[in-house]
Amino acid sequence: MSKRTLFVTTALPYANGAFHMGHIMEYIQADIWVRHERMSGNCVHFVGADDVHGAPIMIAAQKRGVTPQAFVSEIAAGRKQYLDGFHISFDHWGSTDSEENHELSREIYRRLKDAGLIYTKEIEQFYDTVKGMFLADRFIKGTCPRCGAPDQYGDNCEVCSAVYSPTEVVNPYSTLSGSTPVLKKSTHYFFKLSDPACVEFLRSWTTGKGKDGTATVQDEVLAKDREWLGVDGHLADWDISRDAPYFGIEIPDAPGKYFYVWLDAPIGYLASLKSYCRKKGLDFEAILASPETEQIHFIGKDIIYFHTLFWPAMLHFAGKPFRVPDHVNAHGFMTVNGEKMSKSRGTGISPLQYLELGMNAEWLRYYLAAKMNPRVEDVDFTKTDFAQRVNSDLIGKYVNIASRAAGFIVKRFEGAVLDSAMQDPLLAKIRSRAPEVQNYYEVRDYARATRLIMELADAINEYVDQQKPWELAKSRDAAEKLHHVCSVALEGFRLLTLYLKPVLPATAERVEKFLGIEPQTWASVDAPLTSAHAIQPFKHLMQRVDMDKQLNVLVPEKKPEPVEAPVLPGGEAVAAECTIDDFAKTDLRVAKVVKCEEVEGSTKLLRLTLDIGEGRTRNVFSGIKSAYKPQDLEGRLVIMIANLAPRKMRFGISEGMLLSASHATDKSKGLFVLSPDCGAVPGMRIH
Ligand code: 2FM
Ligand code: ZN
Repeated sequence: MSKRTLFVTTALPYANGAFHMGHIMEYIQADIWVRHERMSGNCVHFVGADDVHGAPIMIAAQKRGVTPQAFVSEIAAGRKQYLDGFHISFDHWGSTDSEENHELSREIYRRLKDAGLIYTKEIEQFYDTVKGMFLADRFIKGTCPRCGAPDQYGDNCEVCSAVYSPTEVVNPYSTLSGSTPVLKKSTHYFFKLSDPACVEFLRSWTTGKGKDGTATVQDEVLAKDREWLGVDGHLADWDISRDAPYFGIEIPDAPGKYFYVWLDAPIGYLASLKSYCRKKGLDFEAILASPETEQIHFIGKDIIYFHTLFWPAMLHFAGKPFRVPDHVNAHGFMTVNGEKMSKSRGTGISPLQYLELGMNAEWLRYYLAAKMNPRVEDVDFTKTDFAQRVNSDLIGKYVNIASRAAGFIVKRFEGAVLDSAMQDPLLAKIRSRAPEVQNYYEVRDYARATRLIMELADAINEYVDQQKPWELAKSRDAAEKLHHVCSVALEGFRLLTLYLKPVLPATAERVEKFLGIEPQTWASVDAPLTSAHAIQPFKHLMQRVDMDKQLNVLVPEKKPEPVEAPVLPGGEAVAAECTIDDFAKTDLRVAKVVKCEEVEGSTKLLRLTLDIGEGRTRNVFSGIKSAYKPQDLEGRLVIMIANLAPRKMRFGISEGMLLSASHATDKSKGLFVLSPDCGAVPGMRIH
């Protein structure tokens, strides 16, 4: 089969923040595929870039007091540690503000204009008179026109989920200046997506095939596209211009007008390839124009519309050397314990923290691979699952084989395998599965690939368990058998390493050194170890993941939601927890009611004269008149708070408080003064 030329990209991240796990997951998915293609001998140009234009980045830069260029170059400088850290093998990382992107964006725009697909129209939009700029919906807030919730965004309400236009918002204000925006007219540029030729083209492209003969888009994506293209095939035209001030690319012959960021962002794929070609002395136009080249984009499910409608239409109508994508491969999001990652709710996993905790990037690569398939499904991260995959699959099944076999080969057989062992039926069986493994990588069914590889690892471990090399090692007569068994196991390990190489590139490299072999490609399946290779002493290949020091730090346990305390028959819930020290602050004493009388002018209070054995009596007012007559209480023992700060009341000073029980709100349920059991004497403390 002739070799393929593949131009592969991942979605360009906005240059307004560090990478998050979603980015890294996409890069790992694409990188595994790219490494597999390279191992097949195909020529891959794998590029990424920062998506730097647009109002949010311009404003973020303003807030920081730097130019947008300086702002985004600082972000760009932080990319390498992640890309290297997770072994992402981009050939080039560019920027949508590159010279190449300015040129290409203008060029594509001119071609679309010449094709009669660009027109202008006056539109009315909110304008911030303080900032002197038009406001994107996200910079407008106000009261929801449907439910009246305050502080809702200009295009949707988070309280009632209504979707509306910013002009419907009640009392709108600019989030940039706080001022009330005014409606202002401006001329905008539109891409005529509603043109019947566009719709017809998109109908055919979305249902077509890539050069490899498989569907251009996944079934789920096609279903979405069908919805958007509709039965009547009416697509809304696309507003591709923004007014100055804007950080972007100026539209030719339209001073003060810039391309909307989403126009020049995908062109950034081509620009990054072009910069790469310049750097490497490759012919960009020739690569692009060649019918042999395949163009493949990896993206998240949130940007399907841009990549399967706008983007192919732009490319198609721009004409040669531009080409439409062969494939747009969409993936789902990464969730943690089934929940969307959210910084504010503390459910995100930081890729930088992952690396800083000393966690092996290949653990994550393997874990994600084990869960990724070609469908647009979310990938869930859970700690126990992660620990299980790493510790039992990678260490327990895979690495274990090498540690079991290599020692004997080095110590007993001078680091040389037994050539005749390479014909063992077990190895033939493992080699025979190579096409399946490769095919699973090809169709991005990494879950199936890893499952099959682990099955093969199980088979090798079973073989070792049955042959018991540690027993064979005890008997002199069994030396040849021992040599055979360990050679089979080690060759099996080499094959597993090869099969896992797209996922575990760094480990594969270390194993290649340890086995004394050349860097492996898919052609190496049939290049077994020979006695000429000098096996090096086995070095530890991979650590186990540590639940306490790593996973629990990376993904802390969520604190349980506070349970609402039940309301008791007394009409209220038990109060917030306190300590014994809190309780001890209240000095409760047994008191004798020396005297009790009505209070003139009060319908609620009784005045009590209480004795707690201090050598004096205290005057206490209590709101118990509705339940007690003064004579009912005189002579009784009651409980009082003795150390309550004296309180001045209308009728005199109250020097303590009497304890009684009642319903929290319903006074008809009665009021009951507390008293100690028989035998207690005034002055005793309640503990
Ligand atoms: O959604 C995003 O993060 C965009 N920055 C993706 C752009 S992909 C391509 F068009 F550049
Ligand atoms: Zn609302």
